[in-house]
Amino acid sequence: MDIFEAIKTRRSIRRFLDTPLEDGKLQKILESVRMSPSWANFQCWRFLVVKDRVTREKISELSYVESFFAPLGYKANPARKGLGEAPVVIVACADPSQSGVIWDQHYYMTDLGIAAQTLMLSARALGLGTVFVGVFDEAKLRSLLNIPSHIRVVGLFPVGYPQEEKKEGPPRKSIQEIVFYEKWG
Ligand SMILES: Cc1cc2nc3c(=O)[nH]c(=O)nc-3n(C[C@H](O)[C@H](O)[C@H](O)COP(=O)(O)O)c2cc1C
Repeated sequence: MDIFEAIKTRRSIRRFLDTPLEDGKLQKILESVRMSPSWANFQCWRFLVVKDRVTREKISELSYVESFFAPLGYKANPARKGLGEAPVVIVACADPSQSGVIWDQHYYMTDLGIAAQTLMLSARALGLGTVFVGVFDEAKLRSLLNIPSHIRVVGLFPVGYPQEEKKEGPPRKSIQEIVFYEKWG
C-alpha cells in the first residue's frame, strides 16, 4: 500500500478480532515509529507494549474520565472495548525534559503526535487497525504500569486486526476552510 493510500484509508478502529498480532508486524511498527522526526532529534518518546490480557482490561477501565465524558453524555470512552480486545496496547509516553519549550509551546506533544501518526499509518499499511486514545486517567495508569512521575502518558493505541473495514470516516473540513494563501483569511 502506498503512503497516500494508507493516509486516505486509515480510520480509527475501535473493535478488534481475537487474532494474535504477529511479532514481526509489531516490530515493524515500532521500527517505523523510531524513525520519526523529533525536537533536536532528542526522541523524548518511550513506548510501553502491553500484551497481558488482565493489564489491558485494567487499561480499558482507566480510559473513562468522568469529568470529561459525563458532560458529553458518554458513559464510556468510545475506545474502551477495543483496549481490552486488541492483542496489544501501545502506551505512548514522553519525557518532556527531553524536548523543547518555546513561548509556551510544549514540543513533546508535537513529537508524540508525529510518532502517533507514524504508528497509525504503519499499522494501516500492515492491514492492522488502531486508534489514538487520548483520554484516560493518567495518574492511575502511571501507578498500574510503574511509569515514573516525570513521564507524561500521551496516548494509548490498541493494535490488532479490525473487526470491520470502515470505508467512511467522519467528514473533514474543505480545503477552502483550512488553507489560506499568502495571508491569513
Ligand atoms: C489527540 C487525539 C485523541 C483522541 N482520543 C480519543 C479517545 O479518547 N477515544 C476515542 O475513541 N477516539 C479518540 N480519538 C480518535 C478521534 O476521535 C478520530 O481520529 C476522529 O474522530 C477522526 O476519525 P478517523 O480517525 O476515523 O478519521 C483521538 C484522536 C486524537 C488525534
